Amino acid sequence: MGVVDEAARLERAGYPVIHLEKGEPGLDTPAPVKQAAIEALLANKTRYSHSSGLPELRQAVCDYYASQYGVRIDPRRVVVNAGSSACLVEIFLALLSPGDEVVLPDPGYPAYPRFITAARGVPVQAGSAVTGYQHTAELVREHLTPRTKAILINFPNNPTGAVADAAQLAAFAELGPIVVSDEVYHGLEADGCHSRSILEFTDNAVVVGSFSKAYAMTGWRLGYLIVPEHMVTAVTRMHEDLFVGTNTFIQWAAITALGDAATIQRQVREELNTRRDCLLAELPRLGLQLAHQPRGAFYVLVRQWANTGTSAQLAADLLKHAHVAITPGSVFGPSGEGNIRFSLSAPADQIVVAMRRVEKFLVEHPALAPR
Ligand SMILES: Cc1ncc(COP(=O)(O)O)c(C=O)c1O
Repeated sequence: MGVVDEAARLERAGYPVIHLEKGEPGLDTPAPVKQAAIEALLANKTRYSHSSGLPELRQAVCDYYASQYGVRIDPRRVVVNAGSSACLVEIFLALLSPGDEVVLPDPGYPAYPRFITAARGVPVQAGSAVTGYQHTAELVREHLTPRTKAILINFPNNPTGAVADAAQLAAFAELGPIVVSDEVYHGLEADGCHSRSILEFTDNAVVVGSFSKAYAMTGWRLGYLIVPEHMVTAVTRMHEDLFVGTNTFIQWAAITALGDAATIQRQVREELNTRRDCLLAELPRLGLQLAHQPRGAFYVLVRQWANTGTSAQLAADLLKHAHVAITPGSVFGPSGEGNIRFSLSAPADQIVVAMRRVEKFLVEHPALAPR
């Protein structure tokens, strides 16, 4: 957040900051989705829905998982909430007793440890620097203890862009504890890559889904949980008390989004793939090496140059001198230090301009970035 606040301050002062730090693709929500929300509002679809979500939306999620991954899900298992963030808080409240441990990726989404501690659990970060920043079941196994209650995975991964193949997902499933699979970046894979769902490999899993990323709907705040049969009663009761329900007209728009999922995801994916190719082509000129080959999501994690201080210092320097906002690797966990994350949150032409500015920064600060 330091980078975000400072970038906003510089912009207010008139500096042309290029944003490569945001957790959103920076694309407009598709017109049919917006139209569906408008029509739902005009039709007064503004009252409470079933607390776990509109039956039509829960069915649409099941239909989507059936066609996309070949898994059959009872709609009772789907619980809709205000973005995957609310879903993550909710699932850990339901799963954890005080002191229960959850093994999670490091580097990983910065909010994960906070969701777990909010539920009085203990986050256990499995540092993946040793495995080339690929979160693996072998790595998780080293962190299992009698107190391990759940394993949290996230593919395509924020911040590495890593995806897991079928064998890797099956290996997570075989470890034993319930797997909470954050699948919010599904649909946003690089060419030739396709995400598999954890539900193809085990029923002992929770899926966390979102409309934010693959449908360009970050501000709509809509996500869902798919919980195992044995958790349906506990989660739906808790959900009813804590949340009552989720914005009804937005759920109607989400049904339209799922109905047009293939087209919308393809449009978002193609744009992001163009941006990723553009950024990757620029890296060698700048002497930057990938921490991990990104195969999905819209992030590129790179090793920072030598002698550039901490990743937070480098991010501050790039913002101050080049007016390029990026994210320091340290915010993603101890293993993230030594890296910086570029988000593909700006169009390709902006990415090129940002890289020219970074290049100029390097020339002007030879002591900081010897090449
Ligand atoms: C891995 C991951 N999970 C969950 C979220 C939360 O997304 P939302 O609450 O918009 O669904 C994010 C946001 O950046 C994320 O990167």
